[in-house]
Parts: sequence; structure tokens; C-alpha cells
Amino acid sequence: MSNSPTSTPDYDSTTRLLHAGHEPREFHGFVNPAVFRGSTILFPSAAAMRSRDQRYTYGLRGTPTLESLERAIDEMEGSAGTILVPSGLAAVSVPLLAFLRSGDHCLVIDSIYGPTRHFCDSMLKRLGVETEYVDPRSGPEGLRAQMRDNTRVVFLEAPGSNTFEMIDVAAFCAVAHERGAVTMMDNTWATPLFFRPLDHGVDLSIHALTKYPGGHSDILMGSVSATADYIRPLREAQMELGINVSPDDAYLVYRGLKTMPVRLKAHQSAALHLAQWLETRPEIARVLHPALPSFEGHELWKRQFGGASGLFSVVLAGGGTRAADAFLDALRIFGLGYSWGGFESLALESHLNDRRHAHAPTEGSVIRLQIGLEDPEDLRRDLEAGLEAAGSILAGQR
Ligand SMILES: Cc1ncc(COP(=O)(O)O)c(C=O)c1O
Repeated sequence: MSNSPTSTPDYDSTTRLLHAGHEPREFHGFVNPAVFRGSTILFPSAAAMRSRDQRYTYGLRGTPTLESLERAIDEMEGSAGTILVPSGLAAVSVPLLAFLRSGDHCLVIDSIYGPTRHFCDSMLKRLGVETEYVDPRSGPEGLRAQMRDNTRVVFLEAPGSNTFEMIDVAAFCAVAHERGAVTMMDNTWATPLFFRPLDHGVDLSIHALTKYPGGHSDILMGSVSATADYIRPLREAQMELGINVSPDDAYLVYRGLKTMPVRLKAHQSAALHLAQWLETRPEIARVLHPALPSFEGHELWKRQFGGASGLFSVVLAGGGTRAADAFLDALRIFGLGYSWGGFESLALESHLNDRRHAHAPTEGSVIRLQIGLEDPEDLRRDLEAGLEAAGSILAGQR
């Protein structure tokens, strides 16, 4: 691969991504990898089978197609190895299962993705692991105060889910490492194009590939990328659990990665433009977007991140559920649905009742917006219709 753009560190991350994970010369010149479907892989002799002395041994353990995607993600993350799993949530649960055992203590940032909290409070609890939550605003000192001798994992997400709280990732990881804990971070919002967790002391970087890497709302997948110290136990746990992904799905995500840099630029600029406009509206109490100077965590975001993706929230200026429903029901382009990172705009009301420290804003409902790739002016008009509908509820309450 001596002439490959991925072997030249001087190239921009976009150039490296576009050429990562596949070497056309090894595949008859085809610019894209083949989709290898297969469970059984034959060995040439009994001796080769006994020693498992060949690169691929069984479909579950890896195929050239899965490797192409794993290597492309390694290239972006700067990781020693990546595992693929069937959803973003599995990319949370598998590393937690890999590194925690009965009697361990796990510290999780309180602004975490809701189902991650549920996994900790249900399955991890049943397995004898105690989880506690750390207030993102308490900073590294707050984390230090909660660390114990048996704290084995510190699990971060930045910005926080739905409310976008920021933390100093390197400072949190340094505190975790003082006591020998493993650090994991859900990096789905930024993608490795805007933030590379391993460069900031994170041991395992987690992605819902379902979102921007897939990019078309037609696939579920997750990845966990590890440093050299942690890839082996992670891969072992993946194989103990018997989890991998379909080659067709892996190919679609691999394909999605090629356009992710241009899609992200478009998501970023439209989202910021709309966020700035929403800040001027009387129906909105606050806009929760890390790239806005008015946002509490803005300086932390600016210092650590290379960009902002297309997901942010607004806090309505009162009106409760009625205003939220009026806003959402007036939207025509924005769909009402879960997930984000696809080409289409989406909206939902966030429910944050299970937070222990990072409580929901009190002014009104929190509406999360995923800004898609539609024309930004069309999106602005759609949001305006939503705000007018919410505004009539607010006016009735004054
Ligand atoms: C931050 C974050 N992590 C993980 C996930 C889970 O991804 P998936 O839907 O593929 O399970 C989501 C999904 O919304 C998410 O928002």
C-alpha cells in the first residue's frame, strides 16, 4: 500500500477517509470492496484447519468486507482496531459487558443517551455492577470525588444527549486514568471528522453508525474503536457474545462514509444558520447548540471540537406539552421520528425525566431538531409555521 493516500499522514482527513479501508490493486482494480457473504470459509488441509493458519476462518470472525469498514473507521479514529455491532446501542452495551464484572463500579455522565442509562440501570445492575451518574457541570473535580477503588469504567458522551452539555474530555479521562479506570465515549454527534476521542485520552470510542456514517436512515449499526491496550479484550467479548454485522450492511456504511464529509458540511452550516435565526424568535427561550456563543458549553466545544453536526435543541418559552404538540404537528417537512444523521429533517420532544443532576430546562419543552439536507430556506419556513402554532398557545396563556 506504499502509494496509498492512507499511508501518507500529510493528507487531509477527508482525503484519507476517501481512500481508507480498501486497496483497489488487491481487488483487480475495483475502486470499491466486494460484498463477501459467507459463514463457511474452507481450509486447504487438516493441518491448516487445526492451526487456523489463514486470514479468514469463519464469517462471524471477519470477512474482507467487514475489514474494509473497520479499517476505514480506524483511519478516522486513529485506533488500533474497531469492532462492528448491529446497532449504536450494541456499541454501548458490548464494551460495557467486555470491561465490567460483578462488584465493579461504573461512572456515567448524567447527560447520557437515555438507552445507555437504561442498560446500566437494568442489565448491568442485574450482573452486580453499580452505576452512578456524574454531573457534567461538576467538571473533572466532580468526577474525582465520585471515583472509588472499584471504579472500572468511566463512560462519557459529549455533547450530552438532547441538551448538549459539554465537558473537558481530556481532563475527565486524566482523572479516570489516575485510578486505573477504562474510559469510553459515545462520539456519535461529532463523528471522528469533528472530534477524535482517542487523541484526548479516551480508550474506546463509540459510534452509532446508524447516524451520519450511514446517512440515509436505512441502516442500523455501531462501532467501537480501541487503543492497542484494549482492542484484544474488546474483540474477545464480541466473539464470546457471537456478534457481528451483515456484509451488505457494512458495505452500505462504507459507501456512506465516502460522502460523509460533504454531507456533514451541509448539515453543519444549515443547522447553525437555523439555530441563529431561532435565537431571535420570541417563542424560543433558549437554543441549545454548542457552536452558538450564547451556549454555556461553547468555549469548551470551541477548544476541543473541529465542527458541529446538524443536531441541536430549542427550549420553548413555556406552553408545556400543548405548545410542543402544536409546534410539532404544524411541521410539514420535518418528520416526527427517532434517530438523526440521515438526509431528512426530523423533530421530537425530548423527555429528560430520569436525569439525576443535568436536569431538563425549566422554561418549556425541549424540542430536538435534526437538520437534514433539504433547502435551508424551506426548513426555516417550516419551523416558522411550527413557531406560529406554538405562539398561539403561548399567547393564550399570557
Ligand atoms: C448518542 C447516541 N448514541 C447511540 C445511539 C444508538 O444508536 P442506534 O439507534 O443505532 O441503536 C443513539 C440513537 O439515537 C444516539 O443518539
